[in-house]
This record gives sequence, C-alpha cells and structure tokens, in this order.
Amino acid sequence: MIGRLNHVALVVNDLALACHSWRTMLGATISETQKLPEHGVTVAFIDLPNTRIELLEPLGDGSPVSRFLERHTGGGMHHICLEVEDIAVARDELLDRGARLLGDGEPRIGAHGNPVLFMHPGDFHGTLIELEETGSSDSDERD
Ligand code: CO
Repeated sequence: MIGRLNHVALVVNDLALACHSWRTMLGATISETQKLPEHGVTVAFIDLPNTRIELLEPLGDGSPVSRFLERHTGGGMHHICLEVEDIAVARDELLDRGARLLGDGEPRIGAHGNPVLFMHPGDFHGTLIELEETGSSDSDERD
C-alpha cells in the first residue's frame, strides 16, 4: 500500500528561527513559508535529495500543533508522511483492517495540494502517520 517517504514533520516554537538554524548551520534549502489556517499551522519545507522535512509552527487558536508543544516544550518530531497512490482505496483498506483515522476519515487537502489523511498514533506504537495521495507511489515527481 505505502510508497515513498514524502516528508518528516518537525514542530518548532519559532519557524523563522528554525529556518535560520537549518539554513546557517546545515546549509538547507528551504521553501517559502506558507500559512495553512485550515490545518492550524504555518509551514516551511526543507528539500533534501531523497525527501523533505516539514517545519511546523502553530497558527491560530486550537492548533493541533500547540497541543503538541504543550507536551514537548522544545519542539520535536510530529509525524512522518508516506505516499499512497489512491487515498480513498488506502482509507477503505485501512478501515477494513481495523485501523483508526483521525477526524472524520475524509481526506483533506494538505500542504502540497494533495489529499491527506492522518492515522491514529495508537495503532502505530506512538507515531503519527500521514498518508498523502501523490498519484504514483514510485514516481520521482516532486512539487
Ligand atoms: Co505533513
């Protein structure tokens, strides 16, 4: 079912400062910052040769990322994102296998304009997994 690792997401207290650290210390190439009010985050992507790192800062009241920062005050790893070819097919297979999905189980449009779903971390030993429909699980296409 799953394809490539699309990104690893890290929650930070201060996105501008985090971008500065990654840029100056590691020479990272970082995307423009994007506000995603429907997800309660401001996001920037670090491009790596084989994947991306997503830096997330809380946006607005009730951001899911604010709750994460209350428990992990210095920030930290929030989720990994795996690619699937067809998110509706993946969702139905997962529900058949007894997996739990966050929210209403309906895919939402994520930071790359593709449909995404989040799976319950309790089913994956504490790790939050995002699934993203990329159309092809083995393509080299990147946006
Ligand atoms: Co993500």
